[in-house]
This record gives sequence, C-alpha cells and structure tokens, in this order.
Amino acid sequence: MSSNKCLAIVLAAGEGTRMRSSTPKVLHRVAGRTLLAHALAAVEQADIAASAVIIGPDHAAVADEVRRVAPGAEVFVQSERLGTAHALLRAEPAIARGWDQVLVLFGDTPLVRPATLERLRSAIGPEAAVAVLGFRPADPTGYGRLIIRDGSLVAIREDKDASPEERRIDLCNAGLMALRGDVALAVLQQIGNDNAKREFYLTDAVAVAAAQGLKSVALEAEEKEVAGVNDRGQLAQAEAALQQRLRREALEAGVTLVAPDTVFLAADTRFGRDVTVEPYVVFGPGVTIEDGAVIHAFSHVEGARVGKNASVGPFARLRPGARLGEKVRIGNFVEVKEADVEAGAKANHLSYIGDGRVGANANIGAGTIFCNYDGFNKHRTEVGAGAFIGSNSALVSPVKVGDGAYVGSGSVITADVPADALAVGRGRQVVKEGWAQKLRARLSRGKKTAAG
Ligand code: UD1
Ligand code: CA
Repeated sequence: MSSNKCLAIVLAAGEGTRMRSSTPKVLHRVAGRTLLAHALAAVEQADIAASAVIIGPDHAAVADEVRRVAPGAEVFVQSERLGTAHALLRAEPAIARGWDQVLVLFGDTPLVRPATLERLRSAIGPEAAVAVLGFRPADPTGYGRLIIRDGSLVAIREDKDASPEERRIDLCNAGLMALRGDVALAVLQQIGNDNAKREFYLTDAVAVAAAQGLKSVALEAEEKEVAGVNDRGQLAQAEAALQQRLRREALEAGVTLVAPDTVFLAADTRFGRDVTVEPYVVFGPGVTIEDGAVIHAFSHVEGARVGKNASVGPFARLRPGARLGEKVRIGNFVEVKEADVEAGAKANHLSYIGDGRVGANANIGAGTIFCNYDGFNKHRTEVGAGAFIGSNSALVSPVKVGDGAYVGSGSVITADVPADALAVGRGRQVVKEGWAQKLRARLSRGKKTAAG
C-alpha cells in the first residue's frame, strides 16, 4: 500500500431516549456547537481522506447539520436501530471503496481530539487489524469492558452482558475504533446479535477478528476526552470539561481571563493578543475579539466582531452581526445587533443599536433607541461619522443622520437629518412663572373646605 487513506464514519443514528428530548441527541450542544459538529470537527482537523455519517430514519435535522458543518461527508440512514455494528454497515458502499483504515467515532462523544484519531489509525497495520480506544472512567457503569488476555485485547463485553468479575474491570471502551480497511467488511459482516439487547454490537468486532486470526490492540485516553453523552447530566459534564479545555487554551494563547471559571467560551471563540475578559462573561458562537480589546464583567457576546482596543460592557450585549471597529466603546446596558459601529464611536449607556451603522467617532447618547421594527419588517438606521445623538432619542428607521449632525435630546427622529444640521423632534418647553404656587394655594383651600 503506497497511499495511506482513512475513511471516518460517525455513528449518530441512536435515539438518545435518556436525554428525554424532542431534539436528536447528537444535536444537543456543548460550547455552542452540536455534539455531532464536534466529532466532525475533530475528523476535519485530522488527516482523514473521507467521512460519512450514519443517521436515524427521523433525522432530517441531523442530515441538515451534516451538510452545514461537513458538506463533503456522505450520509447513510439506519432505518432500524439494531446496534452499532448494524449502523456501521449502512456505510458498506463507502467502506467497500477500499481504505487503509476505517475509523469509527460516535456522534455522542464530542471531546475527542484530532491527535487521538491519528493515534488510533496509526495503530492499525500488518500486526493489528482492530484498534480500540480505552479509558478508565471514575464510574464504569454502562460502558463496555476491554478483556485483555496475555497482553492482548481479545474481546469487549458490554455492561449488560458482563459477568460480575468482568464488571470489575476498570478499562472501558471509549467507543472509538479503527479497523484495517482490507478486513473491515469481512469482520463486520460476521457480527451477530446474540446478547442481552439483541443488538449487533460493534464491540464484537474484536472477538470476531480474533476468531479470524486477526489481532486487536487497545490504546488509552483520558476520561475527559472520551466521555460519552447519554443523558443531561453527562451533557453538563461534557460542557464543563470542554470549558476547562477552552479556558486553558485561551490563557495559553495570551488572553487574560481574570476569573477563568466564570467565563463561558464557544468552541470557535477567537482572540487576538492581550485581550482581557473580566469575570462572568458568556461567549456564544461566532465571536472574534481583536488585539487589546477588553470585555468587561457580565457581558453576553454572540456572532460578533470586536475591534482592536475596543471596550465592551460591563453588562453589554452583542448579538449576531454586531461589528465594532477599533477603539469603539459599548457601555452598560447597551445592545448591538446587525450593525457596524465604526472606529472610535461610543454608546456608553442604555441603548439599542439594531440594523444599521454608526459612523466613526459618532456619539450615541444614553437611552438612544434605533426603532428598527415596524411590526412586519426591519429597517436600517444610519448615523454618520462624528454625529451626536442626544440622550433619550428614538431614531425611527429607515432614517439617516448625516455626518457631523446633532440630534437634540429626547427627539423622535422620523426624517433624514442632513450633515452638520441640528434636528430637534420634541415638544417645545413652556415655562409659566408662579404657576405651581397658585396651584398649591388653590388645592389647599379646597382641602380645608372638604374637611370642615
Ligand atoms: C457504546 C459501546 C460501549 C462503550 C460506549 C462508550 C457498543 C455496543 N457499545 O455504548 O462499549 O463503552 O459506547 O460511550 O458499541 N448508534 C447508532 N445506531 C444504533 C445504536 C447506536 O447509530 O443502532 C450510535 C448512537 O447514536 C451513538 C453511538 O452509536 O452515537 C453509541 O450508541 P449508544 O447507544 O450511545 O451506546 P452505549 O450504550 O453508550
Ligand atoms: Ca453512548
């Protein structure tokens, strides 16, 4: 074999009943990304030639997710859930195309690293036809046990089928397996369903291979990397483990996290150099924070780009499509959505900037609202460079405020404001001298009469 090609197959057809959810298990999320997308991202980052995903019969949404995150992956449907080996054989046409290794991953095992996939496939060769990833979980209940005899892996016993002695084995099956391409189909086709669940277990590949005179090997990984998600408790554990990993990576990359344990990151959060993130900040997917920016405490940031040396929060919310230029300041209780806020612009207090543009160095006064929605459609608001919007103004979109223009405080702006103009859209102030005194006198007379 001159080339060294690997096909990765992700099994994702399971019902995941223990999640008690109307969403398929593999579409639940950790760190802002579906479990399935995590597995596919690991495949993508490893040196793997092709990939396939096995989905359930009622899994249109899972197929959509595969197309979104791994458009090159083939999708096969397992119409009846007859076990992991049965699931894998749905990809028979792909396996039959000929590979050096066939690598199997589970869609419910999101934390696996690309390097581990590489390690597993490199264990395959003339000596080993099957390589299994093992781990030693704190609580092995529910996992298949690796049966090692004279130093070699001879079988995997599912928890439900294991004898009491076998249950005491602490080395468990992580679910990842590599099979030598030239024997994969011959092994898989020999697997039967003579077990407690009447399922075709992929784990039986080890015993079947042994019967065919083929050797298996076991590798080991850390529990944090291979823990599977079968219920909401395990989903929360996977989230916690992934957050720890992402925080550590951010710190190593030069981000200051003042209180790392309180910051929640997404798998794709990107930071420049010398970024500071204060306590209690949550990042949703799709965020880029450029060099020197500071995200102050209690901010929520999703789908946003924060420019160099910009300052966000405390208590700010950046929603998808918020794009902040260099040195922009977004202060407390300010929400930005689908808007470009250009270099040096400021919105320091209590504002909504949605669907529009704020030009460079413009100042958005406290309480300014972009009224972007008329009950049917969203419209744009443009504020020119250097413009000044007085506090508590409503800009009723579609509307434009020109460069350098002023808007008087408390205005409701419904028509465009030319550059360098002043627009005031509110009732004129009226002053009546002595009026309050007269009122008080009249009312106090009335009160005496009523009481007496
Ligand atoms: C499986 C392993 C077990 C291992 C554990 C690690 C088998 C028989 N058991 O058990 O040894 O310790 O993972 O987490 O392989 N799936 C299908 N079609 C099916 C059944 C399952 O596609 O008919 C998929 C599921 O979507 C899931 C994966 O295969 O992604 C594993 O299935 P699951 O039912 O979670 O197996 P476990 O009981 O966790
Ligand atoms: Ca599982």
